[in-house]
Formats: sequence, C-alpha cells, structure tokens
Amino acid sequence: MSARLGIDLGAHLVREKAKGQPGELIALPLAQEQPRLVLFVGIGTASVEDMRTAGAALGRRCRDVTSVATTACINAEPAALRAFIEGLLLSTYSFSVKSDPKPIVLERVDVDYRDGGADALDRARATARAVRLARDLTNTPSLGKSPAWLADRAAEVGLAADVQVKVRDEKALVAEKFGGITAVGAGSTRPPRLIELSWRPKGARTHVVLVGKGITFDSGGLSIKPADGMTAMKTDMAGGAAVIAVMGALGALGVRARVTGLVPAAENMPSGSALRPGDVIRHYGGRTVEVLNTDAEGRLVLADALAYADSKLRPDVMIDLATLTGAATVGLGRIHGALYATEDLLAGELIAAAHVGGEAIWRMPLVEDYRASLDSAVADLRNISDPRAHVSGGSITAALFLREFTGGRRWAHLDIAGPARADKDDGQTTRGATGYGVRLLLRWLETLD
Ligand code: BES
Ligand code: MN
Ligand code: ZN
Repeated sequence: MSARLGIDLGAHLVREKAKGQPGELIALPLAQEQPRLVLFVGIGTASVEDMRTAGAALGRRCRDVTSVATTACINAEPAALRAFIEGLLLSTYSFSVKSDPKPIVLERVDVDYRDGGADALDRARATARAVRLARDLTNTPSLGKSPAWLADRAAEVGLAADVQVKVRDEKALVAEKFGGITAVGAGSTRPPRLIELSWRPKGARTHVVLVGKGITFDSGGLSIKPADGMTAMKTDMAGGAAVIAVMGALGALGVRARVTGLVPAAENMPSGSALRPGDVIRHYGGRTVEVLNTDAEGRLVLADALAYADSKLRPDVMIDLATLTGAATVGLGRIHGALYATEDLLAGELIAAAHVGGEAIWRMPLVEDYRASLDSAVADLRNISDPRAHVSGGSITAALFLREFTGGRRWAHLDIAGPARADKDDGQTTRGATGYGVRLLLRWLETLD
C-alpha cells in the first residue's frame, strides 16, 4: 500500500502515536481523488470481539463515504472477518422518514481476505441484512404498522427466502380459540394476527420454535401508560421483528434444523371494546387467566403462541423473545438481554452464541418461590403477581407466567425490553431499534444439525 501511494504509511502511524487498540482510528487525507483518504483502524489482537469493534468504528467513520476498500481482514480468522464485516455493515445503519432524507451513502465495500473468507463474508452479509430488517420493522412508526401490515412484511420475507408463511386473521383466531391474542387485540380498530413462518429443510433432526412478541403499539390498554411510558412503544414488536428477520436468513446461512417462527401480533389500545381489568380470558388449549393489568399484555399473546407450539408443533426446543417488562431494565440496564432457561445446557449454548454474535446477555433465575404469587382466586392464573405477595422481580414473575404454557418442553425466554432499543449510536448499535436477538439466534441455529 505504501508503495502504491508513494507514501510511508508506517511513518505516519508512528508520528500519530498509533497504539492499535481495537477501534482506534487514524486518518490520512490525500491530495487526490481515488483514494482521497486512508484510514487506519486498530484491530487489537484481531480476536472476534476486537474485529467487531474495529469494523464498527470504521463503519461509523465512513458514514459519509461511498466506497471503502479494506485490508484489515487479510490475516483474520473467518469468524473474526465475519465479525468485522457485521460491525461495519451494522454501524452504518440509519432510519429516517424525513421528507428530505440524507441517506448513508456507503455503496461498496471491497475486502481483502485469505482462503475460507468467502463463506464468512456471505454469512456476515446475510446476518447484517437480517439485523437491518429487524431494525427497519421495529423503527417503523405504529401509524403505518398494524398487525396486518406486519403479517404482509412477513409474507414478503417468506417469499424471498423459501419460507412458508401462514397468517391467521381475527376470524381464524376466534375460530381456533386463541383467546389471549384476540383479547389483547380487542381494543384496536386494527385486528390481530398470528403469523407462522416455517422452514423445513430435508433431513432435519431438530425442530425449534421461535416466538416473538408482536405488539405493534402498546398503550397499556385500559391500564393505560403515562405519556412518557408510551413514546417508545412502537418498538414493542422488536421480538417479533427479530423472529421474522431470523426466518428470512435461515436459507442463506444453511440452517439444517426445522424452524417455525410464531409472531402473535396485536395492537394494545383502550376503547369501548377493549379488554378490562378483572376480565377472565381463555387461552389456546383452555387455560384461564384473570387479567388484572391490561398493560401486562405481552405474556397474554405469547401464552397462546407457546401453548399452540407445545400442543400442535411439538418442537424439541422453544425460544421466545419479548420486550416484556420494564423490570428487566431495572435489574440489568439497557445493554444485556435477560435470559431464562429450563436447562443449563440450552442456557450455555445461547450465552455462547450471543458472545460470538456480539450481543450481551445475562442469565436470570426462575425462582420457584415466586410461582404462587401468580395463583388466582377465580382462574387458573393471574397475569400479574399478587401485590400482597410482595415478591417484586417483575421480569422473573413474567417468565414464570410464560413457563406455564410450555408444557414442560425445553424452553428459553429472552426479556429484551432493555437492549431492543438504544438512545444513542454506540459501536455497532445505532439509535432506535437495535435488532437485538437476531445475531445470537442465527449463531445458535447455525450450530444445530
Ligand atoms: N412493553 C412493556 C414493557 C416495556 C417497558 C418494554 C418499557 C420496554 C420499555 C410491557 O407490555 C409492559 O407494559 N409491562 C409492564 C408489566 C406490568 C404491568 C406488570 C411493565 O413493565 O410495567
Ligand atoms: Mn404493556
Ligand atoms: Zn408491551
């Protein structure tokens, strides 16, 4: 490179006191057109993590650049190359519905890599595309994002990715007794849907069901939220968006397992036809729930989907993703997803997949002592824990509620209320929806045979 440009690049790095720390950027503007700028990016030890940080830093710096040629990957391991490119492609994301948009212009990335890199690049591209799709769906304002709209987007994704998509409309949901989804959707003029996406490769040995919360807007319903608590609630379908995006990437990543994605989609609104506090609803499969707070709606739509998966799809593993509780962010903050799992092995696999994928995760306990606080005097369960039981732990009791509908199958639950959104750009994360969960689920699914 030095020879090609006729400049001693090494001397420049020495002069600038480069340390090579991951993500460190040193610029050298040139008095010519192509290239007009040389950027040095520190790659630390070239580990997967450092390369992800480096790619994200480079992408962030290249937001006003149309074309990048990178040599940082020449000696990187395939996994590190993949992380670098994912970091690059994710940090350049932006969402805007301004009438005069200023889109990010990066059109072309040329990458030098050694043997084995082509597959890593393909995987990076497919993964980043999926995360960006999840972000787009989640960032879309609820005015244009009804449950039917979300189902239409899922159908498009399915068509492009060899994934079958079946959508149950409000009539089908009533006929098939999905009482949780219809109850939560009852207050809205825009009726609910259950979106089912199926990936069925030949010779699959494992069947995984993914369930994503698809509340297209959460006002709280009649247990209405205060104004401040509502402003971000267009993102309450982030789990569903992640599931749709994951389903669309299975083919490109050669996933061998059978995977079914379920997205119960509803708009939680107050109105004359809305679900009332004190109502008792009957979930798919017959279990009754006393609804004491209509703002605890996510678990009601998820319960139907989990019960349906358990009794009709009979999978080996079920994993759900949901922006379920503010309590999860109180305990863990806004970076880590809260992981609950019925088995240590499954938890360990998901934690490992999250680590390679660059997503933060922390395991939480399913505290048996708290289960009794969900007992109802009139129904099988209540949808919020009894305040008189003083158990707190709102994310834990929500997880315990969901567990009741899993039929004792292997199950993991991710409460992503914290990491699904970001207030500012940071590394590979961009402001607004983050697409959290897509990378960890894809990394995990890629390991199954
Ligand atoms: N969608 C919210 C959870 C949420 C809150 C996500 C803040 C992201 C940011 C969920 O439906 C909800 O309202 N949960 C209630 C549960 C309560 C009523 C038991 C909550 O967290 O307050
Ligand atoms: Mn709610
Ligand atoms: Zn919600």
